[in-house]
Amino acid sequence: MLDGKRILLIVSGGIAAYKCPDLVRRLRERGCQVRCLLTRSGAEFVTALALQSVSEEKVYQELFSLTDENEMGHIRLSREADVILIAPATANIIAKMAHGQADDLATTTLLASDKPVIIAPAMNHRMWDHPATRHNLQTLTARGVQVIGPDQGAMACGEFGMGRMSEPLAIADALGQFFRHGLPLAGRRALVTSGPTFEAIDPVRFIGNRSSGKQGHAIARALAALGCETTLVSGPTRLADPPGVSVVAVESARQMLAACETALPVDIVVCAAAVADWRADQEQASKIKKTTGRKPPPLKLTENPDILALLAKPGKNRPALVIGFAAETDDVVANAIAKRQRKQCDWIIANDVSAATGTFTGDFNQVHLISADGIKDWPKMSKSAVGEMLGQHIVDHFSEAP
Ligand code: PMT
Repeated sequence: MLDGKRILLIVSGGIAAYKCPDLVRRLRERGCQVRCLLTRSGAEFVTALALQSVSEEKVYQELFSLTDENEMGHIRLSREADVILIAPATANIIAKMAHGQADDLATTTLLASDKPVIIAPAMNHRMWDHPATRHNLQTLTARGVQVIGPDQGAMACGEFGMGRMSEPLAIADALGQFFRHGLPLAGRRALVTSGPTFEAIDPVRFIGNRSSGKQGHAIARALAALGCETTLVSGPTRLADPPGVSVVAVESARQMLAACETALPVDIVVCAAAVADWRADQEQASKIKKTTGRKPPPLKLTENPDILALLAKPGKNRPALVIGFAAETDDVVANAIAKRQRKQCDWIIANDVSAATGTFTGDFNQVHLISADGIKDWPKMSKSAVGEMLGQHIVDHFSEAP
């Protein structure tokens, strides 16, 4: 959700500024471009060099700087941002904003900006509770400024109370929510499984399959783009993490189940992973030796948990919409209909995975969406387009739901 977003981060002068390099790193991990504006007092707590190193962007500090104003004036700093984030936001900068002061680069940029502003306050708890700060915050929120935190806890001054800046991860999450706002699946949570599972036989060998993860990852990407808070639990793939998605990497079916259970509760589940149905009955701690002339060792298998069936099981915590895939080579639609009933999922996507189709590992897919309303045959299209079409069906489903 934050992918490609341009953040102007104003770092004002509080001890929490030491968290800013980490904040920049967290935002960049999610695909943001972060440009930092460091106030004079902010520079007492964190160096421009540290911020420049992590942001890989020039750090702006002075209003009356020949080079800064020449290269990038305060108007452009704001114009080239999607949002202005002030972290830490001290009582002082909050007061200046409330009163429209413009006596340095940060406050001049803010006064000359029409971009959304989000602040992450950080200050001593008595400053936070002071009527002047309360009043200034009311003024700012009435103007549409959004506030993240602060948290309660031990403070640098040795006291305890409300006023700690929220952690960088929480600030990055809150920014994600800010950009999701207004999108059709905003406020919903989804869990998607993707890729193969690897079931170890010994430390070297495993049972696996040909799934590349392309289809599952495309679905997670599409749901996140629709504003859904999306967790992707993926077996081993060579794919990059889809932007705006929390990715949990697993190997085996049992690990995949545990990660899915941790991600609950969610509104939507899409099981696109090609989970190994069986695993070796006993995983060997040492490599099984090949002994020339002797028969190959027997491989005894045991059944893996059925993740889709467990997630779709009726109960009060069942996700509102559970979608499975059915990878079939024969009687594709009939087998998928039976699978939907057996696993009790709401929709199932029937997938012909015969070798000639190239579905496994390929970039295209031709599927049939089976629900209580009947069967919809979708044309052959890219896996990304399947993800987007499924996302749109999910949006329609929730907008039609009573
Ligand atoms: O990864 P790609 O190369 O892009 O290929 C995409 C795909 C072909 C893997 C994908 O589109 C697909 O069809 N995924 C489902 C693969 C599969 O295991 O199908 P199945 O018919 O064996 O299983 C039925 C359903 O139960 C699936 O939703 C599966 O995720 C789920 N399942 C199966 C077994 C198990 N132990 N746990 C499960 O959750």
